[in-house]
Amino acid sequence: MSTTPHAPQAPHTPQDGAEPPVLDLAAVGIGPFNLSLTALADEVEDLAYAAYDRRPAYDWHPGLMFDWAKLQVGFLADLVSLVRPTSRWSFLNYLAEHDRMYPFYIAERFHVPRREYADYCAWAAARLPGCHFGTDVTAVHWDAERALWRLTLTPADGAAGPTAAHPTTRLARNIAMGIGTEPHLPTALAVPAARTPDRVFHSGEHLHRVEGLRAQGVRDVTVVGSGQSGAEVFLDLLRRQRDAGWSLTWLTRSWGFAPLDYSKLVLEYTTPAYMRYFNGLDPAVRDRLIASQWQLYKGIDTETIDLIHAELYDHLLDGDRPPVTLLPGTALLGARTADDGTIRLTTSHADTGAERELATGAVVAATGYAARRPACLDPVEKLIAWDGQGRYDIDAGHRVRTVPEVTGGLFVQNAELHTHGAAAPDLGIGAYRGATVLNAVTGRQVFRTPERTAFQTFGG
Ligand SMILES: Cc1cc2nc3c(=O)[nH]c(=O)nc-3n(C[C@H](O)[C@H](O)[C@H](O)COP(=O)(O)OP(=O)(O)OC[C@H]3O[C@@H](n4cnc5c(N)ncnc54)[C@H](O)[C@@H]3O)c2cc1C
Ligand SMILES: NC(=O)c1ccc[n+]([C@@H]2O[C@H](COP(=O)([O-])OP(=O)(O)OC[C@H]3O[C@@H](n4cnc5c(N)ncnc54)[C@H](OP(=O)(O)O)[C@@H]3O)[C@@H](O)[C@H]2O)c1
Repeated sequence: MSTTPHAPQAPHTPQDGAEPPVLDLAAVGIGPFNLSLTALADEVEDLAYAAYDRRPAYDWHPGLMFDWAKLQVGFLADLVSLVRPTSRWSFLNYLAEHDRMYPFYIAERFHVPRREYADYCAWAAARLPGCHFGTDVTAVHWDAERALWRLTLTPADGAAGPTAAHPTTRLARNIAMGIGTEPHLPTALAVPAARTPDRVFHSGEHLHRVEGLRAQGVRDVTVVGSGQSGAEVFLDLLRRQRDAGWSLTWLTRSWGFAPLDYSKLVLEYTTPAYMRYFNGLDPAVRDRLIASQWQLYKGIDTETIDLIHAELYDHLLDGDRPPVTLLPGTALLGARTADDGTIRLTTSHADTGAERELATGAVVAATGYAARRPACLDPVEKLIAWDGQGRYDIDAGHRVRTVPEVTGGLFVQNAELHTHGAAAPDLGIGAYRGATVLNAVTGRQVFRTPERTAFQTFGG
């Protein structure tokens, strides 16, 4: 598969000191969600639009890009198809441009390889005129006099171009924050991770670090967490075991290595219909629901569980491979580096309360991701309506509530798990949410969004 090289683009350069045109919408971050917004924006005539990302080029979760991993949603959940199937930025058009239509048709693969989806996104990102990489949005101010947002754009490390040395500013009527979430490391692991980052690291780093573990002669590895990342990292380490010769421990504080729920009527909880209903609920009810619905967004794809079980069975057939230990209901409480260089983990069992110490050579923390509160919004912190827990208060249209003097829209993508439910991080909602934002920004229905998205009637 060819990954299209993408030359970093410099932010807009004012010519002869002239101010660049005011943007109707500026997107901060280019992950799958703001990339979807950018692809849809490309379909809107006369929209002044730009999206910025600090990375040099589009690169989706490279530390977990296993060549055998699949996308967890069907290919129709691409950047555009669920609202604008005729767009040139559809996955099918990507296939056509790469002359893979017939092989794809015969393959009958609804869930495409993760690397194919990543390559599709990189293909779109490299061609969409609205994408500007190598540009960090370092500050956002509200210009009350002009009633516009002012973004400070700072060339990220390694960015090329004539403006590389100088920050610039850009004015915008609306902003869409699509900055994703950040890797979460339990406090217990903070000190060992700082001291030995090559042996204690987050799962997002896995493929960048795993060869190093072998080179260091690590004899045993512990994986913490039983979401999809933990399962994939464990499977990868298990498959490398014959060569690396390490023993493996996989622990999670969840009651078990539980599956994601993919049953059809439960999947309707990731549709716009449920998202709207969820947003209208009392915040305390929303918090209770999101905790109880964890198998919608946390858990392991059953196919991955089957692959792990098959690998463990083959392990038995091989006779005497180094041991593998699976510990459900086991929370990591503490960690320290011992004098002999091993990492000593303190764990506690959910049912028995028993505490034990476990010595290991390395730890991969597949302990998930947390919401970001971006530093670039610090200058407007007091203008934003935060909820009692320091989270955005977000309306049904994905717009963050602000003080009334702020007339420009501040939209968010994938920062609204607490206000919109399990659909927020789901790739299947990206095109719908992007279309909703663009309809609001243009003040007209540029995109017809689907009315019927679930058979169930939520809320009775
Ligand atoms: C390995 C993995 C696989 C996943 N697979 C699926 C799946 O198959 N199906 C599914 O539904 N969900 C999946 N998810 C969950 C989720 O949809 C993804 O994590 C997705 O990447 C979220 O996209 P995003 O656009 O919110 O953010 P991200 O992909 O995190 O992108 C955010 C971008 O913002 C940039 N940025 C941040 N701050 C700034 C700033 N101030 N200035 C400029 N740029 C900035 C960052 O550089 C980054 O490129 C997966 C998650 C992981 C970890
Ligand atoms: N194939 C794919 O498409 C793919 C791949 C990777 C990720 N994803 C998606 O990306 C999102 C993040 O997934 P993720 O696997 O990185 O994270 P996750 O789903 O949030 O899982 C984190 C796991 O770590 C456990 N954990 C956290 N702290 C712990 C501690 N101190 N001790 C023991 N266990 C601890 C959690 O237990 P609790 O449940 O008790 O908190 C949970 O089992 C999910 O929506 C996932 O579906 C998709």
